[in-house]
Amino acid sequence: MRVLGVNAVFHDPAASLVVDGQVVAAAEEERFTRRKHGKPPVPFATWELPERAAAWCLAHAGLVPEELDAVAYSYDPALAPAAGPDVTADAWEGLRTLYAERAPRFLHTVMPGLDPACVRFVPHHIAHAASAHLAAPYLRSSVLVLDGRGERASHLAGRSVDGDLEVLAAQQLPHSLGLLYEEVTDHLGFRRSSDEYKVMALAAYGTPSWLPKLREAVRTTGDGGFTVAPIDLDTLAKRRREGERWTGEHADLAASVQTRLQEVLLELAAWLHTQTGDRALTMAGGVALNCVANSYLAEQGPFERIWVQPAAGDAGTALGAALHVAQALGDRVAPMSTAALGRGWTDDELAAWLTTAKVPYERPADLAEAVAEVIAAHGVVAWFQGRSEYGPRALGHRSLLANAGRAENLERLNDVKGREQFRPVAPMVLGERAAAVFDGPLPSPYMLFTHRVRPAWRQRIPAVVHVDGSARVQTVERADEPLLARLLEAVERRTGLPVVVNTSLNTAGRPMVDDPRDALECFGAAPVDALALGPLLVRRAALFRQ
Ligand SMILES: [Fe+2]
Repeated sequence: MRVLGVNAVFHDPAASLVVDGQVVAAAEEERFTRRKHGKPPVPFATWELPERAAAWCLAHAGLVPEELDAVAYSYDPALAPAAGPDVTADAWEGLRTLYAERAPRFLHTVMPGLDPACVRFVPHHIAHAASAHLAAPYLRSSVLVLDGRGERASHLAGRSVDGDLEVLAAQQLPHSLGLLYEEVTDHLGFRRSSDEYKVMALAAYGTPSWLPKLREAVRTTGDGGFTVAPIDLDTLAKRRREGERWTGEHADLAASVQTRLQEVLLELAAWLHTQTGDRALTMAGGVALNCVANSYLAEQGPFERIWVQPAAGDAGTALGAALHVAQALGDRVAPMSTAALGRGWTDDELAAWLTTAKVPYERPADLAEAVAEVIAAHGVVAWFQGRSEYGPRALGHRSLLANAGRAENLERLNDVKGREQFRPVAPMVLGERAAAVFDGPLPSPYMLFTHRVRPAWRQRIPAVVHVDGSARVQTVERADEPLLARLLEAVERRTGLPVVVNTSLNTAGRPMVDDPRDALECFGAAPVDALALGPLLVRRAALFRQ
């Protein structure tokens, strides 16, 4: 079966293609349009579809829309509040429903030849859940989905056995942990549905002084769900305007909500475990991108293993919806083995891009050694290899790499990316070396957990140690990522450090680099010393000598 998954309803539009149960492509629309998050998270943008991502998915597999057996749309308007006579009521909720109901016709318009009757609506949280339990490498798992909202709920707890999901609990709106976190994000002067990870980073600078208040307002109900009472955030911390300096009270609010989120997640997971007794927990939904909470759950919770889908936010529902429908149509669905599901180019194509741009390049006999040399000499390297990542994390395919031994590299990279200086950059390490340097859930191939840097290493890799002594580690397995593994070894040989700084390849406010043009634009605009475009190396110095 050929199933195209589509996420369009709230934000982070994305498409994914599943053929005979195998994920063959997945990409977010922002990587094509260069508009971060694809569109604003407002109801009147519901009609906007991931048309370029979808077109690429089909082209990648050599398919035309007529050849699709189904399109899986990750929202079911039949479950949403009906559109009343006034579509502006309840913050335009009716308009969202009207648009979602018409998605089959919109899809037909952007994909001529598609049969609108092949579009299937998949409930939003079923799509999130499928993106976790069907994509994870387990035959049975407990499943936890937490986000801002779906049609009427903000959470799902369930159990998957051989791919069949039994829903055990679902918390209805208005109670939502994701929306609470969004409110706090907005209150702290960051962008809602986008910058929640900044609140998580800021939390490390504060103390959870408002925890009693949050414990009063946010409670589990003993049946797998929870309630969130309205909280007047103004009484906890002064609203911060965008660009204003943050203060201790802002950090304390961030720490308070982060701590309560962790406590509630733990209680929800504990309830789920009493129902299932499973060893593994699979997770998705925007809240599952909170890697601090994920680690807390992994260490304090009852499950032996936790697997978080790398595109845990709404983009990942394109994958989940497609997997869900593929299975419903009778396919045996295979787990995903990599997040590198986006676009890629051949070596010749990459060389042609550089030739067209009149950019001098070399083709080192050993790229890993050549790049390690630059990193060891304290250069920053734009690293563009293979297919781009699905989800918000750069995992060594569209990354900026630097020497972890130099504290000033954190500031340098945050400057390249126009980021706040309180935000950390992350370490990449060989899986077999990770436990020697970091303490926490391992392996961590998708960078969705935080770890404690072992005391002996804190001074040695200052660029990647957050203020609370933590680091968000990506582990690299030699079999999965041979080039990255060789690079890490080559860097260690030169610096004595088994760790390299890895942050996403993009400049301020832009989506991650996806195609070679984006890479060249980024390289041209930012103080980056070298660009490794596939096997080709462009050096800043060579550009100036030209
Ligand atoms: Fe969602």
